[in-house]
Amino acid sequence: MTDPALDAETLRERAVASLVVARDRTTLLTSCVEDPDLTAQHSPLMSPLVWDLAHIGNQEEQWLLRAVAGQEAIRPEIDSLYDAFEHPRAERPNLPLLSPEEARRYAADVRGRALDVLERTAFDGTRLTEAGFAFGMIAQHEQQHDETMLITHQLRTGPAALTAPDPEPVTPYTGPAEILVPGGPFTMGTSAEPWALDNERPAHRREVAPFWIDATPVTNGAYQAFVEDGGYDDPRWWTPEGWAHVRRARLTAPLYWRREGGQWLRRRFGVTEQVPPDEPVLHVCWYEADAYARWAGRRLPTEAEWEKAARHDPATGRSRRYPWGDADPTPEHANLGQRHLRPAPAGSFPAGASPLGVRQLIGDVWEWTASDFLPYPGFRAFPYKEYSEVFFGPEYKVLRGGSFAVDPVACRGTFRNWDYPIRRQIFSGFRTARSAEDA
Ligand code: AVJ
Ligand code: FE
Repeated sequence: MTDPALDAETLRERAVASLVVARDRTTLLTSCVEDPDLTAQHSPLMSPLVWDLAHIGNQEEQWLLRAVAGQEAIRPEIDSLYDAFEHPRAERPNLPLLSPEEARRYAADVRGRALDVLERTAFDGTRLTEAGFAFGMIAQHEQQHDETMLITHQLRTGPAALTAPDPEPVTPYTGPAEILVPGGPFTMGTSAEPWALDNERPAHRREVAPFWIDATPVTNGAYQAFVEDGGYDDPRWWTPEGWAHVRRARLTAPLYWRREGGQWLRRRFGVTEQVPPDEPVLHVCWYEADAYARWAGRRLPTEAEWEKAARHDPATGRSRRYPWGDADPTPEHANLGQRHLRPAPAGSFPAGASPLGVRQLIGDVWEWTASDFLPYPGFRAFPYKEYSEVFFGPEYKVLRGGSFAVDPVACRGTFRNWDYPIRRQIFSGFRTARSAEDA
């Protein structure tokens, strides 16, 4: 959410604003339930919410107070508790964690000091402070955990703790179902976006053959046809690993769906509703997305195809920051920032379309791509290997575009997310593609 051309004072104001927006969200997510719900583990896939809260404060302390300002540790004994690599999520409830009250006080104490540091730090000293990078990185980190905490809220059973207005109703999309993206090179990644993370860098040329891509994400209605056609019982549609997984885990439909009285219902933040046919499908794993695409006679787009569809402007040949141009997202462009707690109907946000007319690439649902999470040519880990580098390899698949749960500060045309191909508690959907030579 930072324009490459911004001056230091504007960047400083954005850093303050981004940190404040993140903390408001964190506060909402950790104050809408009682303490027992903060210390409980709602799923073995997730940390207790109180761990996320103190981890947010601890990362901020390590990067803004210690690395940028050279301060001593406030509570050195807690670092290891909040190190994501020392303790897997399933073990975190058994650690001697800070209580909700202590975690709140700690995070607030760090924040007060971090804002003082921000006020007196020059934005041109080191790579860490240049253009306010460390502050932008920490705002993005907090927002990423705010999405993680929203995932925990969705896994939690019981009455709703969070509510938000639904997206505006839209006139149904009547444009073409798929859009041709011409072949040729385009610029992938960025070297100019000041708060882009290490895995988005550097900008490099990528050759992409012509391909067709869905104009919108795949909807619940379309996915339901796959389910009702027996897609989960037919090994033809699945990779061998996907088939083994779907059998072992006994998957029959997207997470949270259940069939009752001839209808598909789903639980969504404590409320049961009918599955809305026009909404992008949500809570599918990579194997399910891949199988659906094969059933439909198509495939998942590669990461490069996805980014070319999202950023390439055929008129100028350059890559945009977002599908609609270089301007930061507004509510007219995309469904971001937990403004709504669901995706908007497929075909929403005409103002957010790409130059070729592809819609909803940003916001609504994370989109699985066919690609493994790998470094770009010329990648350099910064500022720490554990953000991206340790995850590179065939174990993780890339997701693109962000969901309704992602804040604009952590979302752009170059932003890369990744997860295991079995994961579906995340706000994941997909769109499909096909090579243009396939006619
Ligand atoms: C980029 C979402 C995969 O949650 O593991 C949070 C983000 N990194 N703290 C994750 C992250 C460190 C990361 N993902
Ligand atoms: Fe983290």
